[in-house]
Amino acid sequence: MIFGRIKPLDAILATAEKKSLHRSLGAFQLTMLGIGAVIGTGIFVLTAEAAQKAGPGMMVSFIIAGFVCSVAALCYAEMAAMVPVSGSAYTYSYAVMGETVAWMVGWALILEYAIAAGAVSVGWSGYFVGWLETSFGIDIPLSLVRGPFDGGAINVPAMVIAMVVTALLVKGTKESATVNAVLVGIKILALTLFVMLALPVIKAGQFEPFAPNGFTGISAAAASIFFAYVGFDAVSTAAEETRNPQRNMPIGLIGSLGICTLFYLLVAAGVIGTVGAQPVSGPAGEVLSPGTPALADACAAIQENAVVCSKEALAWTLKSIGYPFVGWLVGAAAILALPSVILMMMFGQTRIFFVMSRDGLLPEKFSQVHPRFHTPHVITILTGIFVTLFAAFFPVGLLADVSNSGTLFAFAAVSIAVLALRKSDPARVRPFRTPMIGVIAPLAIIGCVYLFFSLSLVTLELFFGWAAVGLVVYYLYGYRNSHVGLGKVEVHEEDAETPPQPVAPLPGVHTPGGKDA
Ligand code: ALA
Repeated sequence: MIFGRIKPLDAILATAEKKSLHRSLGAFQLTMLGIGAVIGTGIFVLTAEAAQKAGPGMMVSFIIAGFVCSVAALCYAEMAAMVPVSGSAYTYSYAVMGETVAWMVGWALILEYAIAAGAVSVGWSGYFVGWLETSFGIDIPLSLVRGPFDGGAINVPAMVIAMVVTALLVKGTKESATVNAVLVGIKILALTLFVMLALPVIKAGQFEPFAPNGFTGISAAAASIFFAYVGFDAVSTAAEETRNPQRNMPIGLIGSLGICTLFYLLVAAGVIGTVGAQPVSGPAGEVLSPGTPALADACAAIQENAVVCSKEALAWTLKSIGYPFVGWLVGAAAILALPSVILMMMFGQTRIFFVMSRDGLLPEKFSQVHPRFHTPHVITILTGIFVTLFAAFFPVGLLADVSNSGTLFAFAAVSIAVLALRKSDPARVRPFRTPMIGVIAPLAIIGCVYLFFSLSLVTLELFFGWAAVGLVVYYLYGYRNSHVGLGKVEVHEEDAETPPQPVAPLPGVHTPGGKDA
């Protein structure tokens, strides 16, 4: 067999069949779910990094990244609807492309989720520090609020928020449907306020030169800003709870990504048109990468007086154009809303680890469930330690880029799996079929590969280094202990309950536990 060990799709589906979820989600609820999961550090913080890479051309970057996400999302949705079990891309790959590819996808998903949680923690820290200063005049030394690559030593607030979220997950905190809906409202309100105040005072000249670093800069920014769209898998994975998924899934996915793209473009235009978004260059006019000591020095030399130097780009812009109070409000909105994105990312990570451990590819201890809290505490704490360390020492842009490398790899794998399964198993029931699969799937694969190779060299080196370590771990541990390899193909009836789902989508949504959210 070309792909080696395959976990039979029917065994995976037998697990899913144990869940009986009520189909209650409509197009509107799906769209809201998507917006809630997607808007976060990407737009609130990484706008500054995108500007440093692409200048005003970052508007094109937002469109490119949004497009690649949309086509990948349509492929993702077919798999999610057909194989509605925990583990997402990892599980799909196991069934279609075999254990080695599945392991690599699962290994890459660690980058996607754990490192993304670190990135959002650092993003949160930027807003929190700025907000503390504005509200109470508390000025924490830079060495304690930024990592060593960013002009500081250690990012204490980012560590604290990562630890708090870890503690909440160990306790099994669930975000209620109401809290989720309120946070969606807060985020939308903050961005709407920003747009309403910034757009009327746009100055046309600010868009020139449009692409100071050429198309290379635009591509690099697109690869980074892709982070702003990550999270839509929340919509895909709700496929089995969706009424008429064939109609509502594409509306939910494309609708939420479309609305986010529109907001992102308006916000980007607001930033560029008001305070300008030209990159800060080095003493000899050289291009400086975000999250490097060289850029930190160049920013220090101009008293951080450029949006590309800001760690709270939107609040900074509002303050600069004479709306300090609204800037303060937007900061408060980010501080309130970003922890829920961290929570979702860390939860996603623990769920992937949980499923991989249950398949025997990681030690069984990882899927141990706490006797009192009923959460996979071992793996949650381990994940929390790593997220805290990433958050402490690395700049947000690098973390987001590394996370993107893993996500793009996983999305490409899923898009290939969808195409392969259409060929190898055409008769299987597909509650949702990707429209025009012959066009959409290749576009998704090409788009992911293009964005992947537009990431910085150091990101690619980290990705391939991580992949190499992954292969060694697989051959030393997973290959020998794999349940499929040992001939144990089990059906997990408890899949629906464990680990608990912290994010209840929206009112009326039925969670796998069977209770209404
Ligand atoms: N899309 C999410 C964010 O921007 C991950 O924070």
